[in-house]
Amino acid sequence: MTFLGISMGYFRENIEKVKGYEPGFQPKDTDVIKLNTNENPYPPSPAVMKVLSEISVERLRRYPDPIGNEFRQAAAEVNNVQPENIMCCNGGDDLLTIACRAFCDESRPVAYPVPTYSLYPVLAKLQNCNAIEVPFDDEFNLPARLASTDAALTIVCNPNAPNGSFISIDEMASLADELSGILLIDEAYVDFAEANCTGLVKEYDNVIILRSMSKGYSLAGIRFGYAIAQPDLIAGLMKVKDSYNVDAVAVAVAAAAIKDQKYFSETTERVKKARGLLVAQLRDLEFEVPESCANFVLAQSKNCKAIKIYDKLIERRIYVRYFNLPGLNDKLRISVGTGEQNDKLISALKEILSE
Ligand SMILES: Cc1ncc(COP(=O)(O)O)c(C=O)c1O
Repeated sequence: MTFLGISMGYFRENIEKVKGYEPGFQPKDTDVIKLNTNENPYPPSPAVMKVLSEISVERLRRYPDPIGNEFRQAAAEVNNVQPENIMCCNGGDDLLTIACRAFCDESRPVAYPVPTYSLYPVLAKLQNCNAIEVPFDDEFNLPARLASTDAALTIVCNPNAPNGSFISIDEMASLADELSGILLIDEAYVDFAEANCTGLVKEYDNVIILRSMSKGYSLAGIRFGYAIAQPDLIAGLMKVKDSYNVDAVAVAVAAAAIKDQKYFSETTERVKKARGLLVAQLRDLEFEVPESCANFVLAQSKNCKAIKIYDKLIERRIYVRYFNLPGLNDKLRISVGTGEQNDKLISALKEILSE
């Protein structure tokens, strides 16, 4: 393409430059132990399969409810807020994109502590806004400097990925108080923690909570997440989202899943119990593993390089996540599987470490 005789790429310069987000590997083979993308090892609620089997052709023929009221109402009840406090999203990632588009541009930066979810810097580059990365300390405490960056949007992943640490509600409240911009608390993994920051929405008009149906509700394949915030913020975010960002099938399925709180509690408790056991077993094998409030753990072997363990696990058809990034390239992120999957992982690790 040429403009005024000057040769230009088809894409905006920032798009040309960005590498793009690299999702975790999705093996085609189903006969593997897949502990690399933090999916829930248990199936979704039986209520989900019932709703799916009953979807009418008429529902498919028509456009969906643009704001997914069926889900909004169910989610409002579960979270003790009003439907006006909820916006449905095509996965939590959709909300992150919407928030970057809504609040950030060349003169309105985004800030977040690092290391964290590796999608944030990619979204900043796509939006062509400056990303202010404030390092966590070794214990993953909230960095004080985060409160004074003057960013239009500050994102804190809580529990944090990829280590599972949790920042207290009081600390998050103080941060919301100090910030002049928006505080988006990414609670994609909060279903496996003992507390959450939803209550802050009542008190602070600059707080947005991100929730995902991919992890605690086993619906990663359907793509559904939601925002919780004060009605004015929700109304503003709604202007930015695609008109039909959630489809009719997803709304019905996600509503069925969130209504079945009994099943949700049972399965998330099972994951939490399995996490405790996995951490203990890994520590017995001389891995350093910090406590995790999520459905994954970050493990560092004292005796063997992470990349070597990663490759040898793949030979045994076991997939975990390796990040070739500073501060993470000596560690493995391992999603918590079923008891049986975790046992197979531990047996494989014992073999690898004794080779
Ligand atoms: C920290 C974090 N936030 C948000 C998401 C988005 O999840 P989803 O788009 O599947 O709801 C993920 C997905 O892995 C994540 O790890």
